[in-house]
Amino acid sequence: MSKKTVLWMLGILMLAGVLAAQERGGAPRGPMRGGMQTWLNDLEEAYKGNDREKMGQLIEDMKQRTSRMRPGTGRPAGRPEGFAGPGRGMRPGQAGAGDEFFPNTPMAKTDTEKKILAVLDDMDKNQRRGNMNVPVLDGRLLRLLTETIGAKHVVEIGTSNGYSGIWLGLALQKTGGKLATYEIDANRASLARENFKKAGVDKVITLVEGDAHETVKKIKEPIDLLFLDADKEGYIDYLNKLLPLVRPGGLIVGHNINQRQADPKYIEAITKNPALESLLLHGQVSVTLKKR
Ligand SMILES: C[S@@+](CC[C@H](N)C(=O)[O-])C[C@H]1O[C@@H](n2cnc3c(N)ncnc32)[C@H](O)[C@@H]1O
Repeated sequence: MSKKTVLWMLGILMLAGVLAAQERGGAPRGPMRGGMQTWLNDLEEAYKGNDREKMGQLIEDMKQRTSRMRPGTGRPAGRPEGFAGPGRGMRPGQAGAGDEFFPNTPMAKTDTEKKILAVLDDMDKNQRRGNMNVPVLDGRLLRLLTETIGAKHVVEIGTSNGYSGIWLGLALQKTGGKLATYEIDANRASLARENFKKAGVDKVITLVEGDAHETVKKIKEPIDLLFLDADKEGYIDYLNKLLPLVRPGGLIVGHNINQRQADPKYIEAITKNPALESLLLHGQVSVTLKKR
């Protein structure tokens, strides 16, 4: 690890220490509460495992969180937590989870949805560690996009324990569609299978284990929505292999599209192609339309 990275990490750790001390000292309720200790534990774990990707994600998350603080207060500047990174996001039913201005808690319309949201809530509280899940609002965004375009075939690269997959599954139950999700790590894949079952979305999800750079070559059917959330330097390869299969009017969603993690080649590919229309949402999620 370079000297610059170590200095960066020390700076971040000091800042985290100050914020944690503020929390312990009775700082006001807000998005940072409850998330800081988890963040520190995750950083320590990533550091011990020399997981550079995870460390980068955590540092980026902290930068985003601190940029939303009101100067000198340790208080959030008024945006909902779900826009933050991998720490706990807003939970269904959690009092005060949203903004006063815009109450922002997912509500179940049916018993099926209630069951799925409860599993997601439990995963959010208890399984984030080591699983690099998308924040709650990004999960909700995936659900919203999938349901809005009436997707019938969604492909996800990077299943982990299945958190984002369940958000996609929630939408696909309504659209009558299917998710094919790809994971290289056998332990995470097995946990994902359990979670899919628990949420009752296993019937709409197929998990393919192995290196997705190889396994996606077998996909032949048109894709309505492609979600990239695995090895960041691999996004360009996934895009090159799968863009021809994305149907006109289909979407490609990229996660961790920030200055530290995103591959410039991927950004160039989605922003310099006149056949595509791309937006970056909250400095973290790219949404690309394949034009009709
Ligand atoms: C950021 S996590 C995915 C999080 C997940 N989308 C969620 O929000 O619940 C990235 C996952 O991609 C997997 N991965 C990395 N490289 C891969 C590859 N070449 N093929 C398949 N999966 C890969 C990792 O093992 C890890 O579980």
